[in-house]
Amino acid sequence: MKAIRKAVIPAAGFGTRFLPFTRAVPKELIPLVDKPVIQYVVEEAAAAGIDEIVIVISSGKNAIQEHFNPVPALEERLKANGKNELLDELHRIDTIAKIHYVYQPRLDGLGDAVLRARAFVGGESFAVLLGDTVLDAAPGRPPVIGQLLAAYEKHEAPVVALEQVPMERVSRYGVIDPAGRDGRLYQLRALVEKPAVEEAPSNLVIASRYVFTPDIFEELEKTPRGKGNEIQLTDAMRQLLRRRPMYGYEIEGRRYDLGSKLGFLSATVEFGLRRPEFRAQFAAYLRSVVRQLEEPECANPPEK
Ligand code: G1P
Repeated sequence: MKAIRKAVIPAAGFGTRFLPFTRAVPKELIPLVDKPVIQYVVEEAAAAGIDEIVIVISSGKNAIQEHFNPVPALEERLKANGKNELLDELHRIDTIAKIHYVYQPRLDGLGDAVLRARAFVGGESFAVLLGDTVLDAAPGRPPVIGQLLAAYEKHEAPVVALEQVPMERVSRYGVIDPAGRDGRLYQLRALVEKPAVEEAPSNLVIASRYVFTPDIFEELEKTPRGKGNEIQLTDAMRQLLRRRPMYGYEIEGRRYDLGSKLGFLSATVEFGLRRPEFRAQFAAYLRSVVRQLEEPECANPPEK
């Protein structure tokens, strides 16, 4: 079995959950401290040994491409001003992976977006990482897409990332019906996209990362429009299940959905607190904000 070297990052959607910001700026460029979310996603893939990436974009999303393109004039300026650390940081972005782009002409759903990458992927197995979601591996564990790749290598079958959510939230996600379980690995019996709570087969939801064998494309070609009148990746997976076993892996790590406003706010606080250069000040500020919530008169804005 050949190691997986290619990943598809769908990043074509409108980002309606983050309007009005996403009217002009792609949700994949929402910053988490100082890095756009899609760069975290590309870095996750690269850390798992994936070095060829195709980002699926659509009209109005060229800024994503610009983020990964070199900016020689800016680099010259940084060099002239001796800002070598920043310069190294920018150079690093140029070398994370080989990034290609493919266009989704009509926003016909996640399934259609993945199908646009067929020519790039060819006949190989590949990974899919949604471009608006950061998955932060548990300490000492491999990147989440690497956890899925390990399960794929063991079972030679497609694997999706799973997470348990409270039952009342399942309708936001693709939900699996587990057939059996071995530790964190579930064999799939069925999948359903955004079911009503009463119809959900479990509280195990698809968490933005996938590993596919190339036969998913044959199913995607045949998949009719489903939920939201869109071609759903989940529907194609359900069909593929009739042909081969498939698995879900309950991830070791946390998911931050940057396409949602609350997801963005919580991720900003958590990632901000990890930065040694302002951790102490930011923590002190947050404590004062919390105190203010409890006793409104004693909040202090952070010093610059
Ligand atoms: C998509 C998928 C869904 C999955 C979710 C989070 O939904 O269709 O199955 O659970 O991503 O990974 P979206 O958030 O694009 O509506």
